[in-house]
Amino acid sequence: MATDDGFRVRPATTGDIRAIAALIQPLVDSRVLLGKDLVVLFESVQEFSVAVDAADQVIGCGALHVFWEDLGEIRTLSVDSAHTHKGVGHALIEALEARARELGLTTLFCLTFEVEFFTSHGFSVQPEVDVAPDVYAELVRSPDEGVAEFLDLARVKPNTLGNSRMVKTL
Ligand SMILES: CC(C)(COP(=O)(O)OP(=O)(O)OC[C@H]1O[C@@H](n2cnc3c(N)ncnc32)[C@H](O)[C@@H]1OP(=O)(O)O)[C@@H](O)C(=O)NCCC(=O)NCCS
Repeated sequence: MATDDGFRVRPATTGDIRAIAALIQPLVDSRVLLGKDLVVLFESVQEFSVAVDAADQVIGCGALHVFWEDLGEIRTLSVDSAHTHKGVGHALIEALEARARELGLTTLFCLTFEVEFFTSHGFSVQPEVDVAPDVYAELVRSPDEGVAEFLDLARVKPNTLGNSRMVKTL
């Protein structure tokens, strides 16, 4: 998707992954985002959308990770600090939500310090885990850290301190 502000959002390619890693590193260092090894980023390339400038350089990224038939997470949403407040984050969320709808998801989760931004995109803070017991029993089997954070499992609590759990119905 092209915009008037000189950037566009497109699906990520493997050639974007090192730029994504560099983009999120400061946020990982400051414990805003969960760290991901390069191999994990390459493995999840199909989950990522990127915002690129006119020279096709990555200025933002975000991923959609499916948890369950109706449930997914927006994760690793990040915009280069030189390009914030220009609608890049908004365009990335729109692309990820469109993909979520295509996939059949009806509920999106995110774990974030950016409560105002996500609230303005229809998310609301939901401190409690709200899934049926049979779904919980399946989700708890996942090795994915984001699923564990969604379930608020004790082993990931140190990652999530100070974050808000937010949910949106699509
Ligand atoms: C959250 C984040 C992705 C937002 O990116 P962004 O590109 O600045 O997002 P937008 O420009 O679409 O919107 C940001 C604000 O700028 C405003 N804005 C958008 N376009 C604008 C424009 N052209 N002029 C002025 N303001 C504008 C929006 O209204 C929004 O305000 P709000 O936060 O009060 O709702 C970015 O701040 C970030 O990378 N944060 C750190 C990582 C993180 O916490 N990610 C979330 C967890 S996964």
